[in-house]
Amino acid sequence: MRSLIDILDLSTEELDELTATALDIIDRPQAYAHACEGKKLATLFFEPSTRTRLSFEAAMYELGGHVLGFSESGSSSAAKGESVADTAKIVSCYADIIAMRHPREGAALVAAANAAVPVINGGDGGHCHPTQTLADLLTIRREKGRFDHLTIGLCGDLKYGRTVHSLINAMSRYEGTRFVLISPEELRAPDYVVRDVLQKKQIPYRETADLDGAMGELDILYMTRIQRERFSDPAQYERLKDSYILTPEKLRTAKPDMAILHPLPRVNEISVAVDADPRASYFRQALNGKYMRMALILKLLEEAKKPAPARQERQTLSHGYRCRNPRCISAVEQELPQLFRPVEDGVYRCIYCESPASADQ
Ligand code: NCD
Repeated sequence: MRSLIDILDLSTEELDELTATALDIIDRPQAYAHACEGKKLATLFFEPSTRTRLSFEAAMYELGGHVLGFSESGSSSAAKGESVADTAKIVSCYADIIAMRHPREGAALVAAANAAVPVINGGDGGHCHPTQTLADLLTIRREKGRFDHLTIGLCGDLKYGRTVHSLINAMSRYEGTRFVLISPEELRAPDYVVRDVLQKKQIPYRETADLDGAMGELDILYMTRIQRERFSDPAQYERLKDSYILTPEKLRTAKPDMAILHPLPRVNEISVAVDADPRASYFRQALNGKYMRMALILKLLEEAKKPAPARQERQTLSHGYRCRNPRCISAVEQELPQLFRPVEDGVYRCIYCESPASADQ
C-alpha cells in the first residue's frame, strides 16, 4: 500500500505531478467536486492542529468524500493504552485513507506498516511533516514561479521544526538550491538532515545565528516557531524563545521579491506588522496546503486500486543496538522491533526516528 511518511517517498516527478494537479484544481474546482464520492478519510490527530487537520478535512469534502476521526488522543483508545499498530488496523476497517499526526517520532511509519489503507503522515514528533512541504512547494511555485536556483533561508528552531527537515529534503533535489540555516547554536538542524542530506549530496549551505547578515541574499525566508512542546528543559525554551522576531525594519535589506513563508502557527517570530507586506506569503501558503492535500488524496486513492508494489527490503540491523531517542515511538511501544538502517560505513540510524544507533547495554 502506497503511503506518504517522508517527502522522499515521492519522486521529483511526482512532486511536479502533484503541483500540476493542485494548479488544475485551483483552475477547475468543479471538475474534482465528485472525485472521491463514497470514500472516507480518517483524521487521527493525537496532537494539536488547526491547519493540517482542517485542510485535510476541507480537501476531502471538496472532493465529494466524507471525513471521520478525532482531534485529541484523550478521545481515542490511545488513552486506554492501545498501540499505534492496533489503531491503524482498526481504522482500516472504517476508512479508505488515513491522515495521522502523533507526538512520537516514527509513529506514522508504524501506522503505515500495519494499515490496510494508505497512511499520510501529518507530522510525527519533531521528525517529518511531508504534507506541509507540499504546501510549501506549491507556495514556492506560485510566489517564485520556479523550484530551481533559489537561496532559501530557514530560520528559528531547526532542531525540532519537522517542517524544516522535510523541506530541506524536498528542495535539495532541485538544481541551484542553496540553504542558509539560521538558528541559535542549540537549535541547529539534526545530523540526519545536515550530514545525510546536505553534506552527502554536496548541496551548498551554511549555518549561522545571524538573520540580519543573511537577509540580503535570500529568495525565500522560511520562518519557524520555537517548538516549546518538544523541549525537555523549560528554562532552555525561555532562554531561546525570542531568538528571532521579523519586523518591517529587518526586511529593509531583503530583496524586493523575497517570499516570506511560515508553516504557522506563529507565536511572535513574525510581527503582525509584516502581514501587510506583499512578500508575506504565509496565509496564501495555508490555502495552498488544502489544494496539495486534495491532489495527494486523489493520487494515493488512485494508487490504492493497483496491486501493491513488491516490498523493497531495506538492509536493516536488529541486534545489539537500541534507539536512545526518548521521543521515538520505539521508546514507548515496547513490542516494536528495534530496527536500524545503514547510512554510511559503521553508522546506523533508527528506522523510526533516524537517531543514531547505540550499543544495547
Ligand atoms: C507545523 C507543525 O505542526 O509542525 N504546523 C503546521 O502543520 N502548519 C509548524 C509548527 O507547529 O510550528
